[in-house]
Amino acid sequence: HETPRPPHAGLSFQRMFGSFDRAAAQRGLQVYREVCSNCHSLRLLSYRNLRQIGLSDAEVRAVAAAVQVQDGPNDEGAMFERPGRPSDRFRSPFPNEQAARAANNGALPPDLSLIVKAREDGANYVHALLTGYADPPAGVTLQQGMNYNTFFPGHQIAMAPPLTAAGQVQFPNMPDASVDQMARDVTTFLAWAAEPELEARRAMGVRIVIFLCILAGLAYAVKRKVWADAH
Ligand code: HEM
Repeated sequence: HETPRPPHAGLSFQRMFGSFDRAAAQRGLQVYREVCSNCHSLRLLSYRNLRQIGLSDAEVRAVAAAVQVQDGPNDEGAMFERPGRPSDRFRSPFPNEQAARAANNGALPPDLSLIVKAREDGANYVHALLTGYADPPAGVTLQQGMNYNTFFPGHQIAMAPPLTAAGQVQFPNMPDASVDQMARDVTTFLAWAAEPELEARRAMGVRIVIFLCILAGLAYAVKRKVWADAH
């Protein structure tokens, strides 16, 4: 059973001059917080980074304060928990790899900060993976605790389908979002997390091409002038 190529997801940032759809990224944040964050860390991201996808300062503070983070030692030398602050990194669901594996049947849920970059054709792959669960074809026996996924290399993945029913995540103004919608939105969020500078990089590229066009025109004009009376 060969692994098929993931289909093109057609997300906002995948077009040539495309940018991150802010509303989609914010819905994706909600999917991450309500579903993925139970198993996957996002440790390269700080809460304050969420300003970039359009959250206000108050919203960032609220997202951060919704989790309890480890801090310390305090003056007595003790560790303690406190509500998160915008300057904190995203809280990880498990204290270490052993605890993560113990809770997941021995499998390790990877950190999602760079997953869109770490996998080939990452955005399309993550979207395809989340929507790619199926019954195993005849003749395929799953190992204990494994799930069949069309797009996972080898097809047997330890992650149970995380998105299973329309409306599983209740978006404001979008009550019955499909599994595909939730998968697309969390993919947009994770693509932004992995490459927040995508928009600046593209804007710079456009400016450079405009500059090169002007430079080419100038070079041509100078050449015409310099060689004007050449015999
Ligand atoms: C693996 C995404 C929710 C447990 C993965 C991978 C991705 C991913 C991209 C890597 C696949 C690969 O290696 O190519 C997500 C997203 C989620 C989500 C976007 C939320 C929508 C969860 C939840 C759990 C979980 C809730 C635990 C109940 C795992 C485990 C693996 C994994 C154990 C390792 C699978 C293996 O290596 O066989 N996930 N995940 N995930 N995830 Fe999730």
